[in-house]
Amino acid sequence: MKSLNSVFQSIWSDYTAFNPHAKTIYDQILAHERESQPGVQALVNDHIALRTFDHPHLNIQVLGRLFEKYGYEAKSEYHFEDKKLYARHWEHSDPKAPKVFISELLTRHFSPRVREIADAAAASFTQAQMSEPDILWAGRPWPASHAVYQELLKESEYAAWLYAFGFRCNHFTVFFNELKSFKDLHELNEYLMAKGHKLNASGGLIKGTPAEFLEQSSTLAGKVQIEFTDGRFEIPACYYEFARRYKKPNGELFTGFIATSADKIFESTNVRH
Ligand code: NI
Repeated sequence: MKSLNSVFQSIWSDYTAFNPHAKTIYDQILAHERESQPGVQALVNDHIALRTFDHPHLNIQVLGRLFEKYGYEAKSEYHFEDKKLYARHWEHSDPKAPKVFISELLTRHFSPRVREIADAAAASFTQAQMSEPDILWAGRPWPASHAVYQELLKESEYAAWLYAFGFRCNHFTVFFNELKSFKDLHELNEYLMAKGHKLNASGGLIKGTPAEFLEQSSTLAGKVQIEFTDGRFEIPACYYEFARRYKKPNGELFTGFIATSADKIFESTNVRH
């Protein structure tokens, strides 16, 4: 069995190869940190996020199980009525291990076309493949056309994204609390915008408040060229998130997520803003 570290390393390699802007931001924040503390080696990742269909062959439980083998435990559930998504997050007993946020598209609320695509995705992987972590960076083995992608956009940005990109990490998240050179998330956002990065302004640049124990911001997904069966097209891929957590009244750091904030964060991959 691969080590948990090597699983996250593979997910990160796939994500940054595909989304060079995320690697650029990582390097820029690390450089800023090193100005005040030259010895800092790496940024801490708060969580990764994964997307899937609710098909029983590859739903949230199937992906969650891959992490449970490494000692992760399923925690809170989240419902997104408008986007017709269900999500859950997993935590490891080692607080340094990133949290894992997995969402699934509730296909019964969509057209038969969406269910056909979920079926095709499910048919692309064997049971054995679905029980190995390599699935988390397997990408899209099914053929996809830009025409269908555009049709899907009318129904669900999430469905269109999943159809075009398949299984790969949707975002990594810089854990702000471990940064020493920015006084707050606002200052980090300003730094990133000054470097030319575009941030998701849906619901304001910062989602959530200290009173909710979680503040988040994110970039807009970088655009990448994708090979479709009907040509090459540039579409939004993945984004990078920044999360600052606060202590609850009991003195423990809040480790969950806020559905109203996550709802806006999902829109970081939208074609339309
Ligand atoms: Ni996130």
